[in-house]
Amino acid sequence: MDSTLALASEGYAWLPDRWRAHTGPIVRTRLMGQRAVALRGVEAVRFFYDERHVRRRGALPEPVVATLFGHGGVQGLDGEAHRERKALLMRVAASPEGVEALAEQFALAWEEAVPGWREQDTIVLFDEAGVVLTRAVTRWAGVPVAGQEVRPLAADLLAMVDGFATAGPRHWRARRARKEREAWLAGLVADVRRGSAPVPEDSGLARIAWHRDADGSLLPADTAAVEVLNVLRPTVAVAWYAAFAAHALHRWPAHRERLADADHAYAFADEVRRFYPFAPFVAGRAATDLTWEGEHIPAGTLLLLDLYGQNHDAEVWGDPYTFRPDRFRHGDIAPDVLVPQGGGDAATGHRCPGEDATRALIAALAARLAGLSYTVPQQDLAIPLGHIPTRPRSGMVLAVE
Ligand code: HEM
Repeated sequence: MDSTLALASEGYAWLPDRWRAHTGPIVRTRLMGQRAVALRGVEAVRFFYDERHVRRRGALPEPVVATLFGHGGVQGLDGEAHRERKALLMRVAASPEGVEALAEQFALAWEEAVPGWREQDTIVLFDEAGVVLTRAVTRWAGVPVAGQEVRPLAADLLAMVDGFATAGPRHWRARRARKEREAWLAGLVADVRRGSAPVPEDSGLARIAWHRDADGSLLPADTAAVEVLNVLRPTVAVAWYAAFAAHALHRWPAHRERLADADHAYAFADEVRRFYPFAPFVAGRAATDLTWEGEHIPAGTLLLLDLYGQNHDAEVWGDPYTFRPDRFRHGDIAPDVLVPQGGGDAATGHRCPGEDATRALIAALAARLAGLSYTVPQQDLAIPLGHIPTRPRSGMVLAVE
């Protein structure tokens, strides 16, 4: 039976429910009319991220490409073409100096925003964090955005993520946002190349605009725009984690005072990434006929790696439904164990290049939230698992004092 509708209605519970109803190392299902196999576990992460086993080309459904990822971007590349493009994104997003500079821009943008929050009765933290993150990442990446343009840009970047896995108005809003923002950024890339947009040479925007692919040519301007969005959009998506961090501090306020300690702030960030649902799974296609734990998987099968399931696997975590940052304070957690942003090696595989940036931003944000004086009025704090991506329904309404 095709599970597309079940996925749409059950959301994060869809794969876990299939595992519960099933014994064996894989779940066989159908998605969008195609044969699909789900894998999970630390060994499955290694299997999935071995590029001899899985390719990405043709694995991503059109509604996801048209909203979340864009055409021609790094997510759909394989082999040498992927490594080449990924090296660019690692240089832009993953250098320690770059991550530190982004966290500094975040801190500045946060301080600029707080006085305005105090003037309002309440704010929705999800929306405001989106604005702060947009201001920070555009300054950091060298993308010129006038002050009054920051809020509409934040709304568009959030919409691209919000609408990728759904039908109806949220989806059409996401498509429109991507189309318009790609056109704007392609124009900006052309301006940078003409020398008519003065941007710092070492900025993310300039690096992407001047990047030469494996064959020595500049990226088509629309592909460069997709890659600029691949830096802006997921950075602003840290707004989901802002809402989750505020939710965690509200439910477990004892963490508040410990967040002044930077090590605890990072452990808190990792536990937010593990505990709260964001990316449910990643998808690829069997590059050839495969055998996994004795199960035959024909070439071309859609493969799903269950990230959410692994981050909540009792065999891995012991008490997965307890929010306990201290689990990250003692002993090393291997990179293929905590997988909210994918597994494997970010430099050579498809793992997220923005993991360090995400951790630094959540840690900075959580520490600032803990130092902010606010109350949490009555509101709907439920986090519906049927909704991908999900968040506290209210977006975390705060009355900042
Ligand atoms: C909100 C926090 C974030 C989450 C939950 C997240 C999650 C993910 C996931 C699940 C993947 C897919 C891994 C795979 O396909 O195997 C991914 C890939 C990617 N992420 Fe992130 N990410 C986040 C933040 C960031 C940031 C801050 C950046 C850049 C500044 C970034 C840039 C990318 C790019 C370019 C890819 C594609 C990598 C490739 O295909 O090789 N992400 N992310």
